[in-house]
Amino acid sequence: EDSRIALPMGTALDRFIKIKQDDFQYASGELSQLLRDIALAGKVVNREMNKAGLINIIGSIGTQNVQGEDQQKLDVLANIRFVRAFTKGQEVCAIISEEDDEVIEIDNHKKYIVAIDPLDGSSNIDVNVSVGTIFSIYRRISPIGSAVEEKDYLQKGIEQVAAGYILYGSSTMLVYTTGHGVNGFTYDPSLGEYLLSHQNMTIPENGSIYSINEGSSLSFDDGVKKYISYCRENNYSGRYIGSLVADFHRNLLKGGIYIYPATNKNPNGKLRLLYECNALAFIVEQAGGKAVDGKKRILEIQPTSLHQRVPFFVGSENMVNKAVFFNENS
Ligand code: AHG
Ligand code: MN
Ligand code: MN
Ligand code: MN
Repeated sequence: EDSRIALPMGTALDRFIKIKQDDFQYASGELSQLLRDIALAGKVVNREMNKAGLINIIGSIGTQNVQGEDQQKLDVLANIRFVRAFTKGQEVCAIISEEDDEVIEIDNHKKYIVAIDPLDGSSNIDVNVSVGTIFSIYRRISPIGSAVEEKDYLQKGIEQVAAGYILYGSSTMLVYTTGHGVNGFTYDPSLGEYLLSHQNMTIPENGSIYSINEGSSLSFDDGVKKYISYCRENNYSGRYIGSLVADFHRNLLKGGIYIYPATNKNPNGKLRLLYECNALAFIVEQAGGKAVDGKKRILEIQPTSLHQRVPFFVGSENMVNKAVFFNENS
């Protein structure tokens, strides 16, 4: 049903989107344009990121976001770039952003809703460690032209029409899915193009890497403590960057599990359902992996608020199943 036709490595993103256009149920071109808008904003953020030490955009701006986090300059700058791209792009009716308390209403006559973490891993910006952007795209439910409603932006993750991330790492990559597999593009700044470098990405069903902040381990539930002991007994490697996108991407390529469980500081975990967990859950399932809140499939959770947090277990299917097993038998 979906045309996973192999395209030559190095195919430019624009051409890839065009060829895959007929994969989209609604080949209206609007989703393609929205993906291009995201790619463009990512180029702008990437350029500013690469100069972070030289221009005055490191450090915090002294304000807090709705999460009670100190906003880093690049959090706010990236947010402005993506919101502006969606506004100019003419495809989006509303945006949910980590950096904005309320829904940002753009144009009631447009079809798509975007949930975005404009800059993921911001604690790592000033120390030159990889950070990312995470996005989910939904089709609105209410009629075009009417005001956007809660049912438009509190949709389950299974309703996503597309999801992806940009990883500003040793190279900058765009990885996304429209429900027909996962494809990765590496940015070539000398051309200003994202070029296909990872076609039909699949996550190994097993792995020996676990990513969790063990600083909180005294407050982990018994099931999580038992799973981490299991990882240690099997000599798994602990790899935790502190940027979800970077940890997720490495585990997608090599196999592994990322866990942000309930802790005493974050009783529902730290990661946000709408603009972190749902997007990565969609991607990992499209790559053959699994994403749960410890019991339930992430994509089936009915959101109740914009910035709600959920415990997040994501990665290789057998590793997630093992973690769930320990959760259920503790
Ligand atoms: P953000 O920078 O968008 O707020 O997300 C940070 C998240 C995630 O990227 C990372 O894995 C996690 O926070 C790290 O949290 P701890 O420092 O509590 O481990
Ligand atoms: Mn944050
Ligand atoms: Mn984040
Ligand atoms: Mn963020």
